[in-house]
Amino acid sequence: MKLGHFELGVPVFLAPLAGVTDKAFRETFCAVGGEHAWTEMISAQALIYQNSRTLNILDLRGEAEPRIIQLFGRDPETMARAALLAIDCSANVIDINMGCPVPKIVKNGEGAALLKDLPRAQAIASAVVQAVNVPVTVKIRLGWNDDEIVAVELAKRLESVGVQMLTVHARTREQFYSGHANWEWIRRVKKEVSIPIIGNGDVFIPEDAGRLIEQTGCDGVMIGRGALGNPWLIPLTQHYLKYGVILPEPLIEERIQVALQHFDRVLRYKGERIGLNEMRKHAVWYIKGVRRAAQLRGEIMHSRTPNDLQSVLRQILQR
Ligand SMILES: Cc1cc2nc3c(=O)[nH]c(=O)nc-3n(C[C@H](O)[C@H](O)[C@H](O)COP(=O)(O)O)c2cc1C
Repeated sequence: MKLGHFELGVPVFLAPLAGVTDKAFRETFCAVGGEHAWTEMISAQALIYQNSRTLNILDLRGEAEPRIIQLFGRDPETMARAALLAIDCSANVIDINMGCPVPKIVKNGEGAALLKDLPRAQAIASAVVQAVNVPVTVKIRLGWNDDEIVAVELAKRLESVGVQMLTVHARTREQFYSGHANWEWIRRVKKEVSIPIIGNGDVFIPEDAGRLIEQTGCDGVMIGRGALGNPWLIPLTQHYLKYGVILPEPLIEERIQVALQHFDRVLRYKGERIGLNEMRKHAVWYIKGVRRAAQLRGEIMHSRTPNDLQSVLRQILQR
C-alpha cells in the first residue's frame, strides 16, 4: 500500500502506546529490525502551549520515515495548528486519535468521545487535512458501545474529507481492552471505503496477523500489547507476511542485551529518576517467560538505582 509518497508494502505498524513507545522504545524497535512506528499520543493543546514534556515526546530526530505523530484534541482549529507545529518538528504523517477510552480524555470530548459526535470528528479531520500538505490518517474504535457501532459511517465521513488511511481497533470504548476484538467490523469497513485500512486488536503472534488480513482484507496490521518487552514481534510478523516463514524468537541472552541497551537509551533521554521508574515496567515485560521470573520481578520492582536494575538483568545473563 501507499501512504502519500511512501511505499509501505503490507506494513506492520508499532501501535501508539502512551507511556511506552517513547523515543527510547522506538530506537530499540528500529535496532531489532522494526520499521514503522507511531509516537505516543500528543495533546494538541499542550503542543500549542509548548509544554516541555510534550516537546520531548515530539523529538523525532534521526528516526526513519514516515514519521507518524498522533495528536488528540476536540477543537478543529487547535488540531490544525498543532498539526502544523508537528510538521515543523519533522513529522511527515499526522494521525488523529479517535479511540482513547481513558476517562480523563473522553470527559474533555477528546479521543473516543468523538465516536459520539461524528460531525465534530469529521470537522477535525477536515481542518487538519486542509491545513497540512502531508498525509492525514485517523485511528478509531468501533463505536462507544455495542449498541452504537459507528465505524462504517465514520470511515466514510473521514474518507470524504481527505483522510488517507484509517486504523480500526476492533473494540468499543466501553470494552476498553477486555473481551475480544471483533475483526468482522474491520472487514465491513474495508468493504465500504477505498482508502487503506489497518487492522488492529489482538495480534500476539505472527499467524494472528496472517489471519487478520485473510479474514478482513485489511491492507496492513498494527500491534500494541504484543510488542511490550517484545519489539521483535513486529519484524518477525513482517517477515512471516512477506515470506510465509516463522523465524525463531530471540534467545534470552539477546532479549536481555536489548533490554540493557533500551535502558541506556531511557537513561539518556529521561535521566535517572524518571528513567528508572519507567524502565522497571519494561524490564518486567522483557523477562516474561524467564526462569524464576516471579522472583526477578520482585527484585526489579525493588531496585533503587539504575545500577541495581542493570545488575538484576545481568544476573540473568550470567546464569
Ligand atoms: C499502555 C497503552 C497505551 C496506549 N496508548 C495509545 C495511544 O497513545 N494512542 C492510541 O491511539 N492508542 C493507544 N493505545 C491503544 C493501542 O494503540 C491499540 O489500539 C490497542 O492496544 C489494541 O491493539 P493490541 O490488541 O495489539 O494491543 C494504548 C494501549 C495501551 C495498552
